[in-house]
Amino acid sequence: MATLQKFLSSCLLGTLAASCLLLVALWVQGGAAAPLGSHCRLNESDFQQPYIINRTFKLADEASLADNNTDVRLIGEKLFHGVNVRQHCYLMKQVLNFTLEEVLLPYSDRFQPYMQEVVSFLAGLSNKLSQCHIEGDDQHVQKNVQNLKDTVKKLGESGDIKAIGELNLLFMQLKNACIG
Ligand SMILES: *[C@@H]1O[C@H](CO)[C@@H](O)[C@H](O)[C@H]1NC(C)=O
Ligand SMILES: *[C@@H]1O[C@H](CO)[C@@H](O)[C@H](O)[C@H]1NC(C)=O
Ligand SMILES: *[C@@H]1O[C@H](CO)[C@@H](O)[C@H](O)[C@H]1NC(C)=O
Ligand SMILES: *[C@@H]1O[C@H](CO)[C@@H](O)[C@H](O)[C@H]1NC(C)=O
Repeated sequence: MATLQKFLSSCLLGTLAASCLLLVALWVQGGAAAPLGSHCRLNESDFQQPYIINRTFKLADEASLADNNTDVRLIGEKLFHGVNVRQHCYLMKQVLNFTLEEVLLPYSDRFQPYMQEVVSFLAGLSNKLSQCHIEGDDQHVQKNVQNLKDTVKKLGESGDIKAIGELNLLFMQLKNACIG
């Protein structure tokens, strides 16, 4: 600490100008990166509501009873392959967006009474992640998300059912990825 103070006062006196510029540059970079990442975050309390957890898991249970294709797993290890752990929340944000828009909304009059409540819960989480972006290389994220979308589309209705049957996994992975 004493060394840092000494260093900083040398900065102010201009005696170590070059090093100071470097230090300030690193500092600013760190400062700018922090708020960006902080939007890719959910609150632990978002995942601690027993009622909606129960509803989500029941909905998933019901759909997986109708899912007879056991060879394909949408939300598994492959989804994260090559993706930096710091990008996991952003990746799950993309999966959540797809699931809501392309899978759940078209099914909104099935799997009642669970569907409606689960959709509003997930839409709330999606809304909280609306400012979550990543900078730089998101090639693996896009590729893996696209793979998941293609798989669901290719399976047709049974792909949708499978995605609904994996809502428990979606819930768990969002929680893992977005609680910092
Ligand atoms: C998370 O939720 C808790 C309890 O509701 C609250 O006290 C806290 O401020 C929240 N944190 C954030 C970052 O929203
Ligand atoms: C949901 O709650 C009911 C009681 O209301 C309980 O019987 C059931 O086991 C719970 N299901 C899950 C998946 O937690
Ligand atoms: C799954 O079951 C449905 C009927 O419930 C049937 O039409 C479909 O062919 C089955 N798919 C496979 C892969 O067995
Ligand atoms: C999904 O993403 C699109 C594009 O970013 C956005 O306009 C839309 O509101 C999102 N949908 C949900 C349900 O969050």
